[in-house]
Amino acid sequence: MDYLKYKNLLNCSIYHLNQNYNFSKNYILNIFSNKNLSDAYNNISKWKDYKPTPLIELNKLAKDLKINKIFYKDESKRFHLESFKALGGAYAIEQIAKKNNKIIISTATAGNHGRSVAWGAQRLGIKCKIFISKNVSKTREEEMKKFGAEIIRVNGNYDDSFKKCKEISKKNNWQIVQDISWENYSDIPTLIMSGYSVMIKEIVDQLKNHNPTHVILQAGVGGMAAAAIAGIAAYFKKIPEIIIVESNNAAGLLQSIKNNKPTKLNIKKESIMGGMSCGEISLIAWKVLNKSTKHSIAIPDDAVPFVITLLNKAKLSDDKIIGGECSTPGIITLFAAHMNFDLKNKLSIKSDSKILVFGCEGATDKQIYEKLIKIGEQII
Ligand SMILES: Cc1ncc(COP(=O)(O)O)c(C=O)c1O
Repeated sequence: MDYLKYKNLLNCSIYHLNQNYNFSKNYILNIFSNKNLSDAYNNISKWKDYKPTPLIELNKLAKDLKINKIFYKDESKRFHLESFKALGGAYAIEQIAKKNNKIIISTATAGNHGRSVAWGAQRLGIKCKIFISKNVSKTREEEMKKFGAEIIRVNGNYDDSFKKCKEISKKNNWQIVQDISWENYSDIPTLIMSGYSVMIKEIVDQLKNHNPTHVILQAGVGGMAAAAIAGIAAYFKKIPEIIIVESNNAAGLLQSIKNNKPTKLNIKKESIMGGMSCGEISLIAWKVLNKSTKHSIAIPDDAVPFVITLLNKAKLSDDKIIGGECSTPGIITLFAAHMNFDLKNKLSIKSDSKILVFGCEGATDKQIYEKLIKIGEQII
């Protein structure tokens, strides 16, 4: 496909080069020990129905963008939860329950994390209370209820649901299992992120002799990106260019890197990439990301339906791929670089590059997915 005709849609991104970039394996593996990461893999890989999610070559996209290889980690096949989040919350609950299985678990979520927590609690017969904002769709609420969770809807955005969760959990002595860390709350998020790092262990086995030159990671609170970087520090032979991409409605990491300190955003407009619409960076994630993010990118929502549809119509790979809203940012970044020579240069993307992107969810909300496909079909 000739993507130049979509230039207006795709040529739009904000870029920042991190002046504090200093990738250090030792520094990262001091935060996430090798033991944390291997414990997570050794436990999760024994779960019933566990199998590595596919690593798919986006061969058609690579040809059209004149890039050697583009690999897409397809998390739509992660258990029956259809997102990498299944690796995190459920793993943390399993570890907590080994010490005390009489507790009540709580969390706040945009959807995918809550599903993982609800599933993890149900597997072990633990009660679970989930706080959601008014922006979380009815479909996502129903999905969590299916796993037996009690849903508490809060009038406000994600941050409000999170505040409420903290307040009520403290009163009732519920154990919060949150994917974000803050002062004196880091053990559980570390377990969650160690669970996410299983993706990188699988990828290293799947890539065989290919060493990616670039890894593009999307960020909400930064947990997934930091976990993937920990996995890279532990398992990769060569350190790739690390690019972190956010929605430009919620580019808290980019802003924090610019300010050289964690910077909370007041989200004015929610991104359709719901899982990434977060105003605050997780503290441990920040410790990793502030030194290991080389390139920071922010993208608008406009290209999301287009990319979901290209994946669905097998325009990027031999077979159709079901990727939800948060699965698009890596590909959108590659399109933006294709349209803008200066950006491509800054990211050092060349014809021999081997690029890894993450399709971190499937159609986790079927209604939204169908709606976005309709919009995408009109654009194509
Ligand atoms: C599908 C999906 N992708 C990416 C993210 C971002 O991950 P994190 O918040 O750990 O940065 C989320 C967060 O909920 C998500 O649900």
